[in-house]
Order: sequence, then C-alpha cells, then structure tokens
Amino acid sequence: MSTKNSDWKDSVKYILYFKTEICTFLLSMGVTIALKKAVSYLEKTLSGHYPETAIILGSGLGPFANLLNNQTIIETSEIPYWPSSTVEGHKGRLIKGNVEETDVIVQQGRVHCYEGYSMQEVVFPVRVFGKLGIKNLIVTNAAGGVNPKFKPGDFMLITDHINLMYSNPLIGHENKTLGPRFPDMSCPYDKEFVSFAEEAVKNLDLTMHKGVLAASLGPSYETAAEIRMIRILGGDAVCMSTVPEVIAAAQMGLRVLGFSCITNMGTGLTHNTLSHREVKKNASQMNSNLCLLLKKILKRVSNK
Ligand code: HPA
Repeated sequence: MSTKNSDWKDSVKYILYFKTEICTFLLSMGVTIALKKAVSYLEKTLSGHYPETAIILGSGLGPFANLLNNQTIIETSEIPYWPSSTVEGHKGRLIKGNVEETDVIVQQGRVHCYEGYSMQEVVFPVRVFGKLGIKNLIVTNAAGGVNPKFKPGDFMLITDHINLMYSNPLIGHENKTLGPRFPDMSCPYDKEFVSFAEEAVKNLDLTMHKGVLAASLGPSYETAAEIRMIRILGGDAVCMSTVPEVIAAAQMGLRVLGFSCITNMGTGLTHNTLSHREVKKNASQMNSNLCLLLKKILKRVSNK
C-alpha cells in the first residue's frame, strides 16, 4: 500500500515537473514567435530604415514626440502582440522621426506589471527594439524623490538600480536569441552616456542629480516605512517601471541612458499625500526641460 502511494506521488511529481518544463518552453517559443511578428510588421511599416536610438517616455512625459520632424506614427494597437497601456497619461504610439539630423524612434506610453502584465509583456517593446537592430535606449520615468536633497522638479540621471519588484523579466525557459542567460549587471547604465548627459546639462537651467533608482511593483505608492527602507538600501528615487526594461536591454547588449523626473517626494518626506493626478501634473510641468535635455543628448548618444 505504501509503495503504491509513493508511486502515485512520484507520478504526480513527474507530471508537475514536465508541466512546468513544457509551459516555460511553450512560453519562450511564444515570445520568439510574437517578437518575429511584431518585428516583421515594423520592418514593413518603417520600410527597413531604423534609427540607432529609441526613447521610452514615461507618465505625462509624452510631448517630446511633438518635436520630431518627418513623423511616421504607428498606433501600438496595430503591432502584433504589443501590449496596450491601461493607464491615464500613457498613449500607445510609436513615432519615428528626426530631431535636426538625428533619427529616433519614440515610444509614447509603456505598460507596467501593476496593470496585470507579466514582466515578459512589459519588456516586449524593448526586445522588439533590440531585434530591429536599435543600439541605444533612453528611458524616462516619473519618480518619487527618496534622497532628502532632491526636490520636485529636479531630474535624476540614473547610474544604477535596485529591483524591488520581486521578479525578473528573464525568468523562464532559456531563450538564446535574446542574449546570455545570466547577463552581467555591473554597468546597465552606460558610463559614457552618463558623462554626455552631465555635459549636456551644463548650459541648461535645471537641476540634475545622479543617483540610484529603486523600482517597486505598485500600484499603491510606498509607505513611509518603505521609503525609509529604500533610502537605507541606497535608493535615491523610486518608480514603478523602467527596471524590467533596463534588465531586458542589458541582456540584449543595448546601451542605456536613463532619466527620472522627480515629480514628488517619497511618502513621509513631506506632509503631502500622493495622487496619480498630481504626479502627472508635475511631470507635465517638467516636459519643457526634459525636451531640452533629450534634444541636446540625442545627437551625442546616436553618434557613438
Ligand atoms: N513612488 C513610486 N512611483 C512614482 C512615485 C512615487 O512616489 N512618483 C512617481 N512615480
């Protein structure tokens, strides 16, 4: 009786083991097929001409795209398997164009894990960029200031990050077409790009700090205790995005530059309460400076 019982348990274990194996394998096949379809759609739509650099614009930070000349606008809902944002302030558009002589592709609106998307879905756009042969990625986000020296309206040049999302977009069956299984993360934010950004900011009338970005899962803002924890861990600002995208970019060998727009101070650092409406309003007030910054930096980044 006991032998029969343990046979039965072993069989269940085998089934569960193979179920996980088969599911993760199918998932990785699915990712490869979805990427191929999205890439071939964009290859047709962009008629084989891709910029070196892509920019992802975060919450309320979409207007940079209006500066582009010779725009080709693609609704991301038309791109096979491209995830659609459900968040106010995130348009779903890809815009190819140029700023002076520099070609760029801009993603207006991203998706987040807190919308219920898996990490793999969240990083799908970055993987499409990588597959299209794009070399450089500029990421922007709205973030809460955790470093008490920061104030709303300041920018932070991201030098490193802390993943507090308790997951990783690279989890799953190994997909060799995306890059190494265990990517190095000693320098996910390109050091040369950081120095270009420091130079670019010199003649602009804005405050830019350098610092470490922490990413929490959201969608609730952090508690005051969590903000104190993030500070102790070494975070200077906190957001609910960006970090998964940068991990996927690192795996594919893209060079990354990142800016956080400090829209508010983290919970407990002021007496204010937080709302998405206020974050969006403050982000939109930072747009003109962000546009100046991106315009200045784009040429340097793309000529490398
Ligand atoms: N926390 C997390 N994400 C954010 C914040 C914040 O305070 N502000 C803007 N995005």
